[in-house]
Amino acid sequence: MVSYKDLGLVNTRDMFAKAMKGGYAVPAYNFNNMEQIQAIIAACVETQSPVILQVSSGARKYANQTLLRYMGQGAVEMMKDMAKEKGLKPIPIALHLDHGDTFELCKSCIESGFSSVMIDGSHHPYEKNIELTKQVVEYAHKYDVTVEGELGVLAGIEDDVVAAKSTYTKPEEVIDFVGRTGVDSLAISIGTSHGANKFKPEQCTKNADGIYIPPELRFDILEQIQEKIPDFPIVLHGSSSVPIEAVKIINAHGGALKNSIGIPEEQLRKATTYNVCKVNIDSDGRLWMTAAIRKHFAENPAEFDPRKYLGPARQALIEMYKHKNLNVLASAGKA
Ligand code: G3H
Ligand code: 13P
Ligand code: ZN
Repeated sequence: MVSYKDLGLVNTRDMFAKAMKGGYAVPAYNFNNMEQIQAIIAACVETQSPVILQVSSGARKYANQTLLRYMGQGAVEMMKDMAKEKGLKPIPIALHLDHGDTFELCKSCIESGFSSVMIDGSHHPYEKNIELTKQVVEYAHKYDVTVEGELGVLAGIEDDVVAAKSTYTKPEEVIDFVGRTGVDSLAISIGTSHGANKFKPEQCTKNADGIYIPPELRFDILEQIQEKIPDFPIVLHGSSSVPIEAVKIINAHGGALKNSIGIPEEQLRKATTYNVCKVNIDSDGRLWMTAAIRKHFAENPAEFDPRKYLGPARQALIEMYKHKNLNVLASAGKA
């Protein structure tokens, strides 16, 4: 058993309490490789933002679960070095399992030093979701590891689970779910979804520049949830904005992305003024990395040194994460 406390990681309890009071959200960025984790830490140190490093089970399979957890843990040491070099404060880092789907997976992550886990029972019937979530909470809390549960289903792809349609969270269930499971935070479904195609064009209007404007998130549902469980940390998954600039670069350099539509950043900013304390972003990083790599290859067809194309990709990620912390989630300066 490795305790996250011995590794300099923190759980999400204090992070969320501060975010709730301060009216901002802590960024939860997914990583699968070295360049992504370097970029997340560099951007969050520079902007002095707390951060949640997220590992999905797909990431564990792709990168090797042992290597990935050491990278997450090593991020604390890298952060300290970077902060010292720049004369800045160290920042709080949580290492979080994203979309854990079984008790065994959550237990294994807790035993290997994760400070926070998500048990996503949202695809199960309500009572089964409660039972599974409660089982994880009981185990996790023995080690002071925080747990995120989910109510309501997001459309899109989560690892191997594909949900064609979303089901909004039912506000009338949240008091019972939170009370009976003992979770520390709750992911809800109010219109966000995973991936780069969050809305169909026919659901959207077009602005003067021909950009698709999706329908508003269901802030009415968020409000009702907040009334039922005031002061309880809410999590938004599927919160990439799918920047048109990145999509254009990809498609101008051989890509074929179609109908890529995300959540407008103003809406995410608005969400942080509610009790939304954690915002999950993965796809935007994938898009900016792809854009930078495609552009680099188009302009340098003879290049074959990975550092030459992964370096610009990492730099594009740094800019994107800094922008999110500064202008969208308002987590900059809150470390
Ligand atoms: O929620 C999904 C995250 O973006 C993780 O994606 O399961 O493909 O690693 P992944
Ligand atoms: P995006 O696909 O919108 O980036 O969502 C990521 C996410 O929710 C990870 O859990
Ligand atoms: Zn998610």
